[in-house]
Amino acid sequence: MKGLVLAGGTGSRLRPITYSMAKQLVPIANKPIIEYGLEDLVEAGITDVGIVISPETGNAIREAVDRCADRIGFHPSFILQDVPRGLAHALMTALPFIDGDDCLMYLGDNLVKGGVADVVRDFQHDRPNCQIMLSPVDNPSAFGVADLAPDGSIRQLVEKPAVPPSNLALVGVYLFDATIAEAVHAIQPSRRGEYEITDAIQYQIEKGRDVRASIVSGWWKDTGTREDLLAAQHLVINEMSHEIEGELIDTEVRGSLHLGKGSQVIDSRIVGPVVIGDNVQILRSTIGPETSIGDESQVSDAIIESSIVMDRSGVHGWKIRSSLVGRGTRLHGAAPAAFVSIMLGEQSEILGE
Ligand code: G1P
Repeated sequence: MKGLVLAGGTGSRLRPITYSMAKQLVPIANKPIIEYGLEDLVEAGITDVGIVISPETGNAIREAVDRCADRIGFHPSFILQDVPRGLAHALMTALPFIDGDDCLMYLGDNLVKGGVADVVRDFQHDRPNCQIMLSPVDNPSAFGVADLAPDGSIRQLVEKPAVPPSNLALVGVYLFDATIAEAVHAIQPSRRGEYEITDAIQYQIEKGRDVRASIVSGWWKDTGTREDLLAAQHLVINEMSHEIEGELIDTEVRGSLHLGKGSQVIDSRIVGPVVIGDNVQILRSTIGPETSIGDESQVSDAIIESSIVMDRSGVHGWKIRSSLVGRGTRLHGAAPAAFVSIMLGEQSEILGE
């Protein structure tokens, strides 16, 4: 079975972060989102992995994937989708790579607790034409939605319905056999002008092909917005173990802490779970819970809660909560007395006076 990880798209709902960074590379607990999916594929025994990239962010994705491929244990092939015409179009572009094999397609901005090894095993055992995963959500109109019959079989799949037939969203993980090639060629663009994978699977259902659905047992996150990203980090970071490589000086630690090499936390309080990268300096601050601080960042006299602070950032004197701070961004000078919640892109600066 081949793996196909989709890593194109513009990430418009995550601007300004995604003006300078592919959404699949935004770090969750200091690890790019896409790496979680790649690890899931390898854990399920899939090591031949096609990565669909776009002209805009393709180089950055390629570099990040090349950097982790040996460590995770897969062989990447890069497939350029020159125009963003939908998930079925991405699959169509990748058909020469899939070359008639079975394929697991994984959206590079999705996170699935517990991975995909079970669903791969079921697919290989039962050999349906297509296997999808579903998860209950509060806002089904933002997703592909399944209408199931009482026996669990799929009646219909609809993409982003105004009136959803259920609260069961399609998770961004799909397993296909070779018959999907006919389906992606047969469908027409949707109202939003995209070739929808949901429509291709609906085509399979109408053709009488064997399409199965399973409900994911753990959590699932599509990390399209700031709230989703922070919620995803909350879930991931709560499962991380305690590991101290750096130095703690006059610092109280509650809960789990991951402290990277060359980092120092001085005269501070850590309220875990917290992840701090390599070569970070933290002075007279309170960090956590559910917070990640990227490599080479500097924090002093600050309070940071439930936030993602990316590499090479500086937070001095500010109190931030539920925030996303892009790479190389600085918050300093006189700070508001109250907590602020911010989303700042790369290389930004706020200087309070
Ligand atoms: C896409 C699919 C949708 C699916 C979702 C999962 O939506 O079109 O059916 O439920 O991924 O993340 P998009 O991210 O394009 O809005």
